[in-house]
Amino acid sequence: MDRQLLEKNARELVSPGKGILAADESNGTMSNRLESVGIEPSAEARRSYRANLFSSEGYESAISGVILFDETIRQCMDDGKPIVQELSERGILPGIKVDTGAKELANYEGEKITEGLDGLRERCAEYFAIGARFAKWRAVIRIGNGMPSSACLSTNAHALARYSAICQEQGLVPIIEPEVLMDGDHDASVCFDVTASILDLTFAECDNQGVHIPGALLKPNMIIAGKDCKDQISREEVARMTVECLTNHVPHDLPGIVFLSGGQSDEDATAHLDLMNKMAMEHPWQLSYSYGRALQADALRKWSEDSEDPHQASSSAFLHRAKMNSLARSGEWNKSLEG
Ligand code: 13P
Repeated sequence: MDRQLLEKNARELVSPGKGILAADESNGTMSNRLESVGIEPSAEARRSYRANLFSSEGYESAISGVILFDETIRQCMDDGKPIVQELSERGILPGIKVDTGAKELANYEGEKITEGLDGLRERCAEYFAIGARFAKWRAVIRIGNGMPSSACLSTNAHALARYSAICQEQGLVPIIEPEVLMDGDHDASVCFDVTASILDLTFAECDNQGVHIPGALLKPNMIIAGKDCKDQISREEVARMTVECLTNHVPHDLPGIVFLSGGQSDEDATAHLDLMNKMAMEHPWQLSYSYGRALQADALRKWSEDSEDPHQASSSAFLHRAKMNSLARSGEWNKSLEG
């Protein structure tokens, strides 16, 4: 394991003012998103929309890394230049989603286990050769009706650690993503407890399997009440409870935490991150973003709208959200900047 390379790239991904763009939607998910705005999905439609994002002017000041899907890491920009080369020339690290999706967990109806360990070593070696320098694996934890089971938590924690160890062996910084979903009517304290459990189990497995924590990043949910819960907490409470949970359940030698947005509104995702970075409470890691929807939702809408220049409109929407989150990542955002 090249510890120095892993640590350098992990730190680079959370360098000041920067965060990650998650553009690794699977073909199925990206096709659904395109269809939802009235665009016929195809490999070319997915390429064209993403190539436009990746050609946006100056986004490298807010984006340190882009997570790609297997199809995209092999595609080219409009001028024929490989996407990986375009990103690298801008000083952006290319990343790759390496799990093969969350599948039904046998014996536990409604719960999921993320698959993709078979052949992972060989796939990581190929992605490294193509130019990827970090990877992502997403575990999905659902709350409600006896869920999560201890089987769901322990199997996903074990898989996250196995994935991390293989990535590091192959020179890729693993982004460890145990996502506790916002679906349900549970309150924020339940989200806190479930998040604490999956973090404890995941880092215990990482320790057991020799994962080098200074060469990894964590991509967690924030502590939020379920979407259908009547008792929603304030933005300040989300920030406070999230930092408290992470402080007590994440190793302090991890270089950075890059949140997922998970279905929060664009502005909530930005405001929560900003409040965490404004807090007087000291935390040992960089707190940044690895947003998918919260960076892209408006850009996708603009891409589909009947305007004079959808390329420019989509780029501008993406650049705006990238700028807002870059400020939030340093605790320098405020609502008036949203225009
Ligand atoms: P969202 O920010 O849309 O939750 O996506 C982040 C991600 O990469 C989920 O795996």
